[in-house]
Amino acid sequence: MSPKVLVTGAAGQIGSELVVALRKRYGYKNVVATDKAVTRAQVSAGVLEQLDVMHLPSVERAIKAHKVDMIYHLAAILSAAGEANPDLAWDVNMDGLKNILDASTRHGVRRIFWPSSIGVFGPDARKLRAPQMTPLNPTTIYGVTKVAGELLSSYYSLKHGLDVRSVRFPGLISSEAKPGGGTTDYAVEIFYSALQTGRYTCFLRKDTVLPMMYMPDALRGAMEIMEADEETVKLHTGYNLAAMSFSAGELASEIMKHIPGFKATYSPDSRQAIADSWPKSIDDSAARRDWGWKEEYDMASMVTDMLARLRQRLRAGEKAFNHRQAFTSRAA
Ligand SMILES: NC(=O)c1ccc[n+]([C@@H]2O[C@H](COP(=O)([O-])OP(=O)(O)OC[C@H]3O[C@@H](n4cnc5c(N)ncnc54)[C@H](O)[C@@H]3O)[C@@H](O)[C@H]2O)c1
Repeated sequence: MSPKVLVTGAAGQIGSELVVALRKRYGYKNVVATDKAVTRAQVSAGVLEQLDVMHLPSVERAIKAHKVDMIYHLAAILSAAGEANPDLAWDVNMDGLKNILDASTRHGVRRIFWPSSIGVFGPDARKLRAPQMTPLNPTTIYGVTKVAGELLSSYYSLKHGLDVRSVRFPGLISSEAKPGGGTTDYAVEIFYSALQTGRYTCFLRKDTVLPMMYMPDALRGAMEIMEADEETVKLHTGYNLAAMSFSAGELASEIMKHIPGFKATYSPDSRQAIADSWPKSIDDSAARRDWGWKEEYDMASMVTDMLARLRQRLRAGEKAFNHRQAFTSRAA
């Protein structure tokens, strides 16, 4: 029988595509998509329910009402947005996670996916192939909540037998939804600007190398770790997960192969310090060994696919693309 799945933060960059993939896999009615920010149209179309993860009684009510046995907990404040509002980042990322863990323990949810991030690493982590086990001393509030969240998840796994599974996602590049305030957002914005104006001013330096992943791989990774046999998932903190690493300049050059007149310039802002504190690449051999992780996309195949998908969308007239609208139309 199909599990009953609840997704929080479902209107965001990952959620708006993950919900579509989960509904395809488990059936439309078996996936309850929720977010704090919902439109009336989304609610009346039955694609999204309103749920604020900071409100424990509402979380408990949703789990009981839908007899939920699996949760993808995506509601969060990301790195750059978190530095702009550290109190909110702490509250949403920590209280929200604790509410999900407490409500799940009380109401028989058997498995939770909660994404961690390369934001757990700080300047003292190795820059190349940052290991799975290494000092985690992040310099952002986002990273602090991800390290604390990993430990909290592991604690609930030990103390309450809750099966929490997590990966440290790198920056995610997606064609369907725009990102929500992270340090790697440039790697999505650059495609829209290249196609719409032929120019892009990047908020990171040209030589800034960061680990990245294309969304189809990220969605598959999330669903694969959730479906992996219990004995294969040995870590209940967060598995390092890698696919590709490139600099902002290398991405621009790859796009130029498809759009010869494209011009990128660089004007680093406060996000540069965050990027500089993270590794350039990470060692994900534990995920590959334990539950068989393997990416499909490298930079070249990701760029080809992104441009094809965005060209199609822009041709269809979605100039002012809005991810929340996209979610409604795709999921409906
Ligand atoms: N996108 C990436 O590149 C990336 C990389 C690493 C990890 N992650 C992690 O993946 C998860 C999802 O990221 P995303 O990129 O989809 O983020 P996003 O910012 O695009 O979406 C987050 C969603 O959470 C919702 N939300 C915020 N506060 C809420 C609350 N109190 N209650 C309910 N919903 C609330 C927002 O409305 C938004 O739709 C986060 O935990 C993030 O840290 C993302």
